[in-house]
Amino acid sequence: MDKFFYITTPIYYPSAKPHMGHAYSSILADFFARFKRIQGYKVFFLTGTDEHGQKIQKAAKENGMDPKDFCDKISKTFFDLSKTLNLSNDDFIRTTELRHKKSVETLWNILEKKKEIYLSKYSGWYSISDEAFYSDDEIEDKDNKKISKISGSQVDWVEEESFFFKLSKWQKPLLKYYEENPNFILPESRKNEVVSFVKSGLNDLSISRKSFTWGIKVPSNKDHVIYVWLDALTNYLSALNYPDTSNIHYKSYWPASLHLIGKDILRFHAVYWPAFLLAANIEPPKRVYGHGWILSGEEKMSKSRGNILDPIEIIQNYGLDPLRYYLIKEVSFGNDGNISKDKLESCINSDLANNYGNLCQRVISFIEKNLKLNVPENYNFIAQDTKILKIYEDEFNKLVDSIDSQNINYYVNFVQNQLFVANKYFNDQEPWKKKGDKDRLNTILYVSLELIRKISIMLYPIMPNSTLKALKIFNITENIIDFNSIKNHEYLKINEKINKISILFKKIEKND
Ligand code: ME8
Ligand code: MG
Repeated sequence: MDKFFYITTPIYYPSAKPHMGHAYSSILADFFARFKRIQGYKVFFLTGTDEHGQKIQKAAKENGMDPKDFCDKISKTFFDLSKTLNLSNDDFIRTTELRHKKSVETLWNILEKKKEIYLSKYSGWYSISDEAFYSDDEIEDKDNKKISKISGSQVDWVEEESFFFKLSKWQKPLLKYYEENPNFILPESRKNEVVSFVKSGLNDLSISRKSFTWGIKVPSNKDHVIYVWLDALTNYLSALNYPDTSNIHYKSYWPASLHLIGKDILRFHAVYWPAFLLAANIEPPKRVYGHGWILSGEEKMSKSRGNILDPIEIIQNYGLDPLRYYLIKEVSFGNDGNISKDKLESCINSDLANNYGNLCQRVISFIEKNLKLNVPENYNFIAQDTKILKIYEDEFNKLVDSIDSQNINYYVNFVQNQLFVANKYFNDQEPWKKKGDKDRLNTILYVSLELIRKISIMLYPIMPNSTLKALKIFNITENIIDFNSIKNHEYLKINEKINKISILFKKIEKND
C-alpha cells in the first residue's frame, strides 16, 4: 500500500525579497521531503507566497505599484529562490490564484452556515507587520510607541465593523485535541506555550477587515475582506484541490503530515488553524513544528528589522550544498542559531572537504590505481568490518524515528560520526600496505565503498547535488535511491565497475 507524506513551508509574504530565514524553513522542509521520498513515501511538498492583506497593500503602495503587479514581481523572487535552493517542491501556491480564492470562499461559507461566524465590531490593537490582533496585556510602551510584547512590532488602535469567529467556544475541544495528539505541536517547549495560552482563555477572533480592500471578499458582504490569516492558512487545502474533497490528491494527502513553520507563527498554526478546521468539520493537520530563528547578532533576522543576510550571496560565494549542510547541521533544530562566514568556512573545510570529500576521493583513486575501478572481489568480512557495517542496520529504526519526530540533530550526529569512523577505518586498515594480501585488500576496499554508499544516501536529503555526484560511483541515480538499502552490506556486485568521481568540495583558504 502506498504511504503518503504531505509537508508544507509557511507561505511567505512577498513584501520584500526573501532572506536567510525564509531559505532556512524551505531547506529544512526540503530535507524532510527528500528523506521521506527515499524512504519510499509518496510526498507532496508545498511552498508559496501569502499575497493579501494590509501589509502587502502597504508595501505595494510604498513602492508605487499596484498590489497585484507588486506581488507578481516579489513572488517571483521567492519562486526563483526555490530553484536556487534546489527545493523539490511539487507545487508553489500563490494566494492570488483563483484555485485558492474558491477554496477560501468555500471554507468561509461553511463556517458561516455552521453559525461559527457573527458580525460585530472590533476595537483593539493590530500589528500590520504581523497581521495580528493583540490584547491589552500583550502590549507595552517603547520609545513613545505601542508595541507587541510578543513580536516587538508596532501596533495601532483599530475600531471597525468586523466578522468574528467563535474561537472561545473551541477552547475545550482544542485542549482535548492537544491531549489526544501529544505530538501535534513540537518541540515540546513550544507545545507547552500554546497549551498555557489556550488554557488562559480564548477570545473570539476578528476574521474580516473593512478599512482596506486588498484581499478576498467575504462572499455574503462585499464591504469586508477576509482576514489574511484565515485566507493564508487555507492555502494548505487549496493546493490539494479543496473544496473537491473526493479527488485523489486530497484523499491521499490530507490531513497534512507536517506544517513546518517558524516559532513566530505558532499561534496561527496551532490554535487558529485547528479551530477553523474543527469548526468546519475538517480533520486538523497531524503536526505543526515551530523551529527556531536564524539570528543576526542577538535579534531575529527580519526584513522589518533590516538586518538580513542574502542567501543568494552566500550561495554564490560558497555553493548551495555547503549552505544547506550548515543550516541543517550547525543550527540545532528547534533552537535559534546564527550563521557566520567563519563558521561556514570551517564547516566546509573540516566536515565537507576533509571528511566527506576526501573519503570519496581517496578510496576511489586507490581503487582506480589498484583495481582498475572494478568492484573488489573475494571479499570476506571479519569482525571489525562487520561491526562497522552493522551499525547502520542496528540504528536503522532509530534513524527513521528521529526523522519522524523531527529530531534532526540525532540523524546528523549519526552521519557525522560514521563519516569519522569511515575515514578512520581506511587510515587504520592501511590498504596501501596490504598489497601482498589480495583478499584482505579487497575486503577493506569493499567495506570502504559500502560506507561511502551508505553515508552518501544518508547525506542526500541534506546535499542532493553533491551526494548525487558521489552516488554516480555506484550508478545510483536520484530516482532509485533507497534509504532502506543502507541496511544492506552487499549492495555492490562483483564483476561490476564503479565510476570515477570529481572533486566534491574545494577547501577555503582562510587568512587566520
Ligand atoms: O509569517 N529565522 O510570512 P513571513 C528562521 N505569510 N525562520 C524565519 C526567519 C528567521 N529569522 N524569518 C522568517 C508569514 N522565517 C505568513 C505565513 S503561513 C499560512 C503564512 C521563516 O514572510 C519562518 O518559517 O513573515 C517564519 O515562520 C516565516 O519565514 C515567516 O515568513
Ligand atoms: Mg514575518
